Amino acid sequence: MSDTPVIELCNVDKSFGPIDVLHEISLKVKAGEVLCLLGDNGAGKSTLIKTLAGVHAPTRGEVLVDGKSVKLSGPKDAQKRGIATVHQFGGTYPLMSVGRNFFMGEEPTKGFGPFKVFDRKKANRVAVEEVQKMGITRITDGDRLVGGLSGGERQSLAIARAVYFGARVLILDEPTAALGVKQAAHVLRIVNEAKKRGLAVIFITHQVMHAMTVGDHFAVLIRGAIAADFRKGERSREEITDLMAGGQNMAGLEASIEGYMETHNGHPPKVTTA
Ligand SMILES: Nc1ncnc2c1ncn2[C@@H]1O[C@H](COP(=O)(O)OP(=O)(O)O)[C@@H](O)[C@H]1O
Ligand SMILES: [Mg+2]
Repeated sequence: MSDTPVIELCNVDKSFGPIDVLHEISLKVKAGEVLCLLGDNGAGKSTLIKTLAGVHAPTRGEVLVDGKSVKLSGPKDAQKRGIATVHQFGGTYPLMSVGRNFFMGEEPTKGFGPFKVFDRKKANRVAVEEVQKMGITRITDGDRLVGGLSGGERQSLAIARAVYFGARVLILDEPTAALGVKQAAHVLRIVNEAKKRGLAVIFITHQVMHAMTVGDHFAVLIRGAIAADFRKGERSREEITDLMAGGQNMAGLEASIEGYMETHNGHPPKVTTA
């Protein structure tokens, strides 16, 4: 695979009026690679990916696609260049079918001229085939309403859709944040699948274990700056957790909460106030 990064940020700053949100951000992702962007709430993760996705223009610095500096004029422009963003709930329409959601905005039609109609059969067949290819074998009926799918399945549907329509960069903003363990595992499997197909994946999360399961490369964002940047295997889970908390020893606390949850059916400790 090509060694030129598919997407890159070079010394990017982003301010909103007087508020500086991103400082000197440089990062790159190659085809078939997963970059995990870690950081606490408010660190600037969403602002960073909106800059990659053409929603925000950088105040300073550059966005490069295939090694060339580009000015993204908006999200549509980014999409045309193969940069796809999937948001937390998959951006799907619950009251519409799997087939409809899969082809939203790209509907296959049959007939011609004023007689063109949405080809439901074809849409359903392709949608089911494609989600199955990504390993989501539980979706077998394209007429099923998306509202009846689990959170993980919805995410997976949105990812399969982006892959099918030719995305080369897949940006996932906290895809596993609202999911249970099984559902999150499901989404992580799809991320691996997208990587195998040669997509450049940017995976945003504050769950260190999720990042470690799929990441090749990690960047920790603290108050809008990259505080650490390392490759798989270079840092332990404890080190990453502590880095995200800005150097406080959080790993010990996290381990004890998880230990509690394991022996209490997944429930977090009760907080009692005096
Ligand atoms: N459009 C905006 N105008 C002003 N401030 C913003 C805007 N968008 C984000 N911010 C600020 O930037 C900081 C980072 O936000 P965000 O990128 O959403 O962080 P994260 O996704 O890591 O939680 C926050 O302090 C937020 O208030
Ligand atoms: Mg965010």
